[in-house]
Amino acid sequence: MKANNANLVAVHDDAENLGSNPSTNPHFSDILNVSRRNFIQRSALASALGAVGVPMLSSFSRGASAQSAAPLNAGGISFKSVPMFPLRDQVVVPEGYEAKVLIAWGDPVSGGPAFKQDGSNSTAEQLQQWGMHNDGMHFFPFQRRAFGGVSLPSSSHGLLVSNHEYVDHGLLFKDGAANWSADKVAKSQAAHGIGVVEIKRNNDEWAVVRPSRYGRRLTANSPMQVSGPAAGSSLLSTGADPSGTRVLGTINNCSHGHTPWGTFLTGEENFNGYFVSPGTITSDQRRYGISASGAGYRWHEFDTRFDARVEPNESNRFGYVVEFDPFDPSSVPVKRTALGRFKHEGATVTLAKDGRAVVYLGDDERFEYVYKFVSTGRFNPNDQAANMRLLDSGILYVAKFNADGGGEWIELSAGKNGLVAAAGFPDQASICVRTRQAADVVGATKMDRPEWIAVNAFSKDVYLTLTNNANRGIGINASTDAANRRVNNTFGHIVRWAEAGNDSASLSFRWNIFVEAGDPANPDVAKRGNIKGDLFGSPDGLWFDQRGVLWIQTDVSTSTLGRGDYVNLGNNQMLAADVRTGEIRRFLTGPNGCEVTGVITTPDGRTMFVNLQHPGESPSENSDPNNTTAISSWPDGPGKAGRPRSGTVVIRRLDGGIIGT
Ligand code: FEO
Ligand code: CA
Ligand code: CA
Repeated sequence: MKANNANLVAVHDDAENLGSNPSTNPHFSDILNVSRRNFIQRSALASALGAVGVPMLSSFSRGASAQSAAPLNAGGISFKSVPMFPLRDQVVVPEGYEAKVLIAWGDPVSGGPAFKQDGSNSTAEQLQQWGMHNDGMHFFPFQRRAFGGVSLPSSSHGLLVSNHEYVDHGLLFKDGAANWSADKVAKSQAAHGIGVVEIKRNNDEWAVVRPSRYGRRLTANSPMQVSGPAAGSSLLSTGADPSGTRVLGTINNCSHGHTPWGTFLTGEENFNGYFVSPGTITSDQRRYGISASGAGYRWHEFDTRFDARVEPNESNRFGYVVEFDPFDPSSVPVKRTALGRFKHEGATVTLAKDGRAVVYLGDDERFEYVYKFVSTGRFNPNDQAANMRLLDSGILYVAKFNADGGGEWIELSAGKNGLVAAAGFPDQASICVRTRQAADVVGATKMDRPEWIAVNAFSKDVYLTLTNNANRGIGINASTDAANRRVNNTFGHIVRWAEAGNDSASLSFRWNIFVEAGDPANPDVAKRGNIKGDLFGSPDGLWFDQRGVLWIQTDVSTSTLGRGDYVNLGNNQMLAADVRTGEIRRFLTGPNGCEVTGVITTPDGRTMFVNLQHPGESPSENSDPNNTTAISSWPDGPGKAGRPRSGTVVIRRLDGGIIGT
């Protein structure tokens, strides 16, 4: 953590998600050995049927998220594993593969000015450029006409949409955070949000299409609507927007989601760090981590929205899932309050058997919860207007993982499960704004930092990364329980569950632990994993590809690196797991100091996009680009001033084959 560096905003989520849920929800301290249950076996059968792909999606003609038929060899991995060492300041992929940079922070999204290595791009230029610190990402294919006039999703032309989670002021400005000003605040805000680029493949080369009518940036100042139960609530009313329905901007956009109806979802994660509340901090503010000094962004000095003394309700307008249509460059993003307010990592959408939309949601902080939203309406490929309202009405649930391997989804609705006026929940709006407090009331299970959630399209099994929790079982913090069974859980684990009846809308499930990260040979039990295959720590990004292969991305923090715990684990990386056998194989290692986060392929599985975030972050280095001990100059260096940039790489097999097979 680098909070003492004036140039740096200490906002990398591993430095931010350190809260300690004060509620007294029960936990299961007597369960340390959960037997592995083989409830996932049916996925082997489902995977054998992999050639059918994801039919519900591919039948949707607009098909922005549609996937074409998946190839054979469903679920199998057969590339040669990438070694952990020596550490390299580059993206390393297996023999027979190549990785090329597609776009990086500061590159134009349509036309406009080029990136300047000295950090001197203006605010107006940044507004036309890829934002900083890309995270979750999705590829939305255009449709192409195939044989017989059938429309199929393209694997050579589409929109790439990515979050830009946070910024590093030392890299963003020529002179860092010196001479702090309103314009510096504006550039910092402009480097946040979401980026959309049109990308196209010619032969084997992918490139950003410039100019493009789709190229777009959404920032911390873009107008957005509020919808769902909290829209118009007095809790969201501010001086600039007494109606509580219109918000400027989205911030700290971490993982993501996409819907069968072709929209992008973004999670507002560590929004609390942008606000300062130098006076009395209310219990509601404290529950969300709002503090007297914030995380160092200093926006409040020139933008009073972020000063809680001036606008005490502004922070109630962040912490949501935001939806927008990337194919409509004029679409106004919508904050979907029905999905609750917390430190949203992402929003993973699937469909229940009856077509209702089901959204899995993680709250990434120590001892926080896992949620699920089930829509009232059903997905209808012929009624896009109705689809665009699906995430506004439904039921929000929170997960309880029982010690016997069962689990339940507890409803968070006004009037139910103790969520009544006397407990501080007079209506659904109050639950959608004070979601953490509602989950405290109903006794949800405190988890080890819920990050990404992935659904296997064949089995409908759900996988969740729990990235780490060094406070588990320490001091007054919650002890271990069956689903979070390591004291001082340094390297995290992956939990999975099967919903009852194989229906995503079910209210009960069976769960087990898929893998605990860390070296199985580590003498320290807190850091000893049970990985069957290549070593890794702190799983974060998680995604099932079209064949049913589970891709795992890691974010072992630099603070953990600094404690020397990272021996044998090297740079952050991406691995592939065969969930039928449990084998995990290392596919990629990232540049020095980066986190690997964000992955998607084209529908044919032959091109993969991977995001690398915060290369160069190091406990021994500050973010001064003139620092001669900088550990990374990726992707431009060596040979250029060492101003590392987050960026997106394109990965393909040299023989054009399916990635991972
Ligand atoms: Fe931004 Fe929880 O990762
Ligand atoms: Ca993450
Ligand atoms: Ca993380």
